[in-house]
Order: sequence, then C-alpha cells, then structure tokens
Amino acid sequence: MIEFKNLVKRFGTHTVLNGLNLSIQEGEIVFILGTSGTGKSVLLKNIVGLMTPDEGEIWIDGQEVARLSEEDYFLVRKKCGMVFQHPALFDSLNVFENVAFGLRRHFNLSEAEIIERVDKALKVVHLSGISQKMPAEISYGMQKRVSLARTVALEPKILLFDEPTTGLDPVTTTAVNNLILELSRQLRTTSLVVSHDMKCALEIADQIILLDKGKIIAQGTPDQIKLSKVPLAQEFLQEVMSL
Ligand SMILES: Nc1ncnc2c1ncn2[C@@H]1O[C@H](COP(=O)(O)OP(=O)(O)O)[C@@H](O)[C@H]1O
Ligand SMILES: [Mg+2]
Repeated sequence: MIEFKNLVKRFGTHTVLNGLNLSIQEGEIVFILGTSGTGKSVLLKNIVGLMTPDEGEIWIDGQEVARLSEEDYFLVRKKCGMVFQHPALFDSLNVFENVAFGLRRHFNLSEAEIIERVDKALKVVHLSGISQKMPAEISYGMQKRVSLARTVALEPKILLFDEPTTGLDPVTTTAVNNLILELSRQLRTTSLVVSHDMKCALEIADQIILLDKGKIIAQGTPDQIKLSKVPLAQEFLQEVMSL
C-alpha cells in the first residue's frame, strides 16, 4: 500500500531523510518511532505531498507519487487521511459540522448520506450523542477523538497519524490506540503512526520502525524489537519497563 525507495529529503545542507526504504502492506499498522527532530513529521508530509523529496520514490496504492502535479495529487490525498498532533477543530462549528466539513467540501453527498457518515464516524470514536456540542464544551481528549472522526468520515484507505497520543492522559491514550486498532481491523485501513510511545507500539503494531538521523536503525515485529540490541531500541524499551 505504501512503499519508500531510497527516499532523501534535505533542508539546505541538513539531510533529514537519508535514503529510506520501507514497504507497508494493506491493512498493516506500522509505528515509526524516533527521538524529536529525526524527520518523522517530514516523512508524513512527503507522503501527503505537503513536501517533495529530493531523491527517491514514494509509491501509494500502486502509483508513484513523489513528483505528481498539484492536480494529480488531489486523488492521492483522497486516499490518505492525516490526523495531526493537535485537534485544530473549527471553534465556531459544532461537533457534527466539524466532522461533516470535509465531506461537504470534497464529496458530492446528500444531506442524509452526510448524516449517516458523520454518525458512523462518531460511533467509531465512541462519541455518539455529543454531535451538537461545541469544541469548547468538550475535553481535549474528546476533541482529539472528534478530529479523528473527521478524518475517518472520509473513509480513507490510509490513515497517517502524527503523534496521536502525545499530551493525552493514559485513559485517553489507551482509547485512541484501541481506535487505531479497531479501524484497521474493521475497515482494513492501512495505518502509519508516528509516535514516541513504545508501549503503544508494542501493543498494537504489526511492524515497528526505529528512525534515527534519517535512517532506519531497527525494524521488525514487536517481538523482534523487544530483542533488539540497538541502543536506541533498548532506551525506548527501558522506558516501557519503568512504567
Ligand atoms: N520546512 C522546514 N524547513 C527546514 N527545516 C525543516 C522543515 N521542516 C522540518 N525541518 C527540520 O527537519 C528535521 C526533522 O523535523 P521533524 O520531521 O519535524 O522531526 P520529528 O521527528 O520530531 O517529527 C528537524 O531538524 C527540523 O528542524
Ligand atoms: Mg513531529
């Protein structure tokens, strides 16, 4: 579903992604872990065309997309739902209208279809019954779930998460992780999750990738990563053990 071939991204003399090779199957949940500033967000931005790589190829659902024109990228973006770190809801719109926003904008649906899709998406994130509330009236964790529902409503084949649980309390963190798992199993969505939460990764990932200085330094299933001798992997694992 997603493949990177020798992906390179530089800013001036600073090489952020330094020849990345990675292949992600349909329906897989892949966690990308790394310390701050290693290029995790840059990687996601390259997938959705918010940035263009300097070298290499990005394949999405059988199509090479790294150098598509802005118009052609539109169809690729429709396959990818991006969930950003901060919810960024529209303050002046209620929860229903926040979730409906992208549907109204990008799809030609009847009002009945919109209602159905929004209800379904809110149910998936376990927020049925709050559709008339304003963002300011609900907790940060709920806002985050609304922002997830907004993306889910578009029914993308690929979900990209940038630190979905950073700054959340443990209960909401578990809820968001369970959601990622449910979505990918129920809808066969392919999920790429950028995170520094090794505990979540060990719990729900099919594949864990450790990124350091623009390179993959460890890669494998949770069981394989648990046995990794790579120092950064051990550091992340130690954090989980000390919880
Ligand atoms: N638009 C940009 N222009 C210049 N440098 C950038 C830009 N975006 C990111 N960087 C640099 O790329 C590196 C990786 O950033 P980022 O992907 O955001 O890290 P993280 O792994 O924490 O998500 C950082 O050193 C950052 O300063
Ligand atoms: Mg980031």
